[in-house]
Amino acid sequence: MKDLVRLRTSLSEEIEAILNEQIKLEAKSSSIYLSMASWCERNGFDYSADFFFKQSEEERKHMLKLFKYICDMGGKAISPEVVGIDHEFTSFRGIFEDALIQEIRVTQSINNIVDRCHKLKDYTTVGFMEWFLKEQIEEEYIARRALELFDVIGEEGVGRYMIDKKIPGITYNPE
Ligand SMILES: [Fe+2]
Ligand SMILES: [Fe+2]
Repeated sequence: MKDLVRLRTSLSEEIEAILNEQIKLEAKSSSIYLSMASWCERNGFDYSADFFFKQSEEERKHMLKLFKYICDMGGKAISPEVVGIDHEFTSFRGIFEDALIQEIRVTQSINNIVDRCHKLKDYTTVGFMEWFLKEQIEEEYIARRALELFDVIGEEGVGRYMIDKKIPGITYNPE
């Protein structure tokens, strides 16, 4: 029976499983960014709160993109359960450090998926994942730039206020 079910999709069990893991990771990123937005709201960093609301929305889109791909390929997409979201952060800067760490983690996970796809000769999924590889260049760039503001502007005096104001202006231009 199981073999018959597998015939409905060219996705191998392993690729389906790691794509479902990636769905979980994107959902977790979305929730983490939401908790960061909440912290920024509570601590008077309005621009950064907006920034994290938008980031959260984007991560949900990434999650849905993967979800739909599994569905379109005839596989079984699993609606993710997200647990263990921290709502306390050490500092304003600490949030951006965590954001960069999270993005690097996501990039590593995507690289691992592409690596497994190559090993299993699943070139359809390799092609699909290319969008995510490109997206991560932008995601890491923005997180790194945000963190650099802390060094460039400094946190003394009105520093944090200035940093907060500069956050929405960070954009990535590959050209
Ligand atoms: Fe993402
Ligand atoms: Fe991201």
